Amino acid sequence: MRVELSVNGDLYRRESEPDLTLLALLRDVLELTGTKWGCLTGDCGACTVLVDGEPIVSCLQLARQVEGREVTTVEGLAGNGALDSLQAAFVSNGAAQCGFCTPGMIVSAEALLRARPSPSEAEIREALSGNLCRCTGYNKIIDAVLEAAGSRGAAA
Ligand code: FES
Ligand code: FES
Repeated sequence: MRVELSVNGDLYRRESEPDLTLLALLRDVLELTGTKWGCLTGDCGACTVLVDGEPIVSCLQLARQVEGREVTTVEGLAGNGALDSLQAAFVSNGAAQCGFCTPGMIVSAEALLRARPSPSEAEIREALSGNLCRCTGYNKIIDAVLEAAGSRGAAA
């Protein structure tokens, strides 16, 4: 079957097996490898992307289920090759160690900041509760999201 969807602003039409996941389409077909293969059971959040602005785990979504919709991956958050404020804050706060969870964390945090530009720490922890990190202890990730919220607020 043929699937047509927008990814990071570009329109793609691809042949797809009916059971191809969105994660497999992004990584294996479109070669957008920022989105990670993790648990494949919806538990780790490493594969989180935005679909029409809402965060979803792409390992549990079939490609055909996003027909005609707008998908944003971590690659789509950076503009003109420059890191966006969340990505830069993860770097400056040392919020990534192995980095495996980082794309999903950033995508989930982006969804939060779009909905709540000045979230509390508790709101950040709640928004990222579906994203697991085995390295950082989470505090630096929270600091990074708070810093990005502050820098976006200052720039607005
Ligand atoms: S790989 Fe999708 S939630 Fe873990
Ligand atoms: S930085 Fe390694 S899993 Fe989060």
